[in-house]
Amino acid sequence: MSVKKVYMETFGCQMNVSDSERVATLLEAKGFQMTASEVGADVVLLNTCSVREKAEHKLYTRIGQIRKSSADNLTNSPDSKDSKRPVIGILGCVAQLEGETLFNRDQGINFVLGTKAVGRVSEAIDKVFDGQKNLVDLGEREFGYDWTVADSQRQFPFVAFVPIIEGCNKFCTYCIVPFSRGREKSLTASDIIRYVLKLRREGIREVHLIGQNVNSYRPLSDCGLEKFTGATAFSRLLRAVAVTGIERIKFTTSFPRDFHTDIVTAIDEYENLCNWVHLPVQSGSNAVLRAMRRGHTIESYLSRIDKIKASPRNISLTTDIIVGFPNETEQDFLETLKMVEYCQFTSAYIFKYSPRPGTPAFEMPDNVSAKEKSERFLELEKAVKNNQQKVFQSYLGKTFKLLVEKISNKNTTQLSGHTTCQTVVNFEGSSELLGKIVNVEILEAKANTLYGKIC
Ligand code: 5AD
Ligand code: SF4
Repeated sequence: MSVKKVYMETFGCQMNVSDSERVATLLEAKGFQMTASEVGADVVLLNTCSVREKAEHKLYTRIGQIRKSSADNLTNSPDSKDSKRPVIGILGCVAQLEGETLFNRDQGINFVLGTKAVGRVSEAIDKVFDGQKNLVDLGEREFGYDWTVADSQRQFPFVAFVPIIEGCNKFCTYCIVPFSRGREKSLTASDIIRYVLKLRREGIREVHLIGQNVNSYRPLSDCGLEKFTGATAFSRLLRAVAVTGIERIKFTTSFPRDFHTDIVTAIDEYENLCNWVHLPVQSGSNAVLRAMRRGHTIESYLSRIDKIKASPRNISLTTDIIVGFPNETEQDFLETLKMVEYCQFTSAYIFKYSPRPGTPAFEMPDNVSAKEKSERFLELEKAVKNNQQKVFQSYLGKTFKLLVEKISNKNTTQLSGHTTCQTVVNFEGSSELLGKIVNVEILEAKANTLYGKIC
């Protein structure tokens, strides 16, 4: 029997990217071949995101496109017996939320695997090829689920995502994640540390400790953390991972209420804990934060920002902001602008509020018009860009340590990588530098990207 080719596309957050890396690792171990094109694939997997309505729409558009491209392939094929329609599997958050109703929405779907069922993907594919129809698995992770990723399946060859906590217990009123990813569950520190040590031996230079809310890290046992002090389990974990000696450690996403300032102290203590904090604020108005049930006020957020800014490590700050939440007034929005001015974020992901069925905010009136949402979005984007340029101007003439990750998409004579503070820098250089950490002097700043020369 010929080897089955699997094409996979991933939408959404780093957790999905990380899940996809493990799905690909598992499938190759089971004898499937991952392929870079949907054309000629036997199986197409879509790992989905449901955080905003737009992300969900994209899925249905993509299924249509895939079906069309395989139909075109069928008619164009010189030997139509050799061509076939691929099996389509939906994974991830939309799969978890919609379950079998997906089969009613789209007849082309063959199977649906929820966020914790991805470890059973090869069994699902086999069953579909054996004739099973409308297969749905929304079950829990199997005992002994393997979190490792093969080198060949990493999205970035020198950077590894390391999940430390899954799910979310926060239930911010707008957010679907607690429903799609379930309750918080932390991985054991000893397993995380063993994995980071393995990655280090294999030549990985940078790890990202990931989770919807890494600050809530709370493992069931102390195993692996015994020798490490800290105000929270997460800051103890940071110290434990730092001691592995891996060159660069980043972590995301942080949740303001659980962001203990001991995290900053840990960053000050260990150079390999990178000088970047992603701390989503969502709004600059206390009334909106209250309605979002974020559990922090703008004052408590800013006190953490002050602590971060006081670090000698020159920690860069990034954030997420939602505009147009129900009942957000012009005054609320002005407070968001004021907050952005104060925090001087290096960058911010801005989102227009998107009502998600099943969340508490879905019951509130979506009463900021599409026009107002767009206007606020653009105004905020302008403010964030201005602030970014102020931060970037302060980088000019300075030298940064860069992990060279890839050849630049826009200019093939240039290489591209991230600083420890998570800014993209492009510079002229040859491909032997890929995977190396180099010193680059910053010469120019454009939107979201710095340009420099190796020194
Ligand atoms: N509408 C708009 N943005 C949202 N986010 C989460 N849920 C929604 C929603 N319903 C944004 C938040 C979060 C980021 C990952 O996505 O800003 O931090
Ligand atoms: Fe969603 Fe809030 Fe959890 Fe973040 S902390 S994943 S915004 S519920």
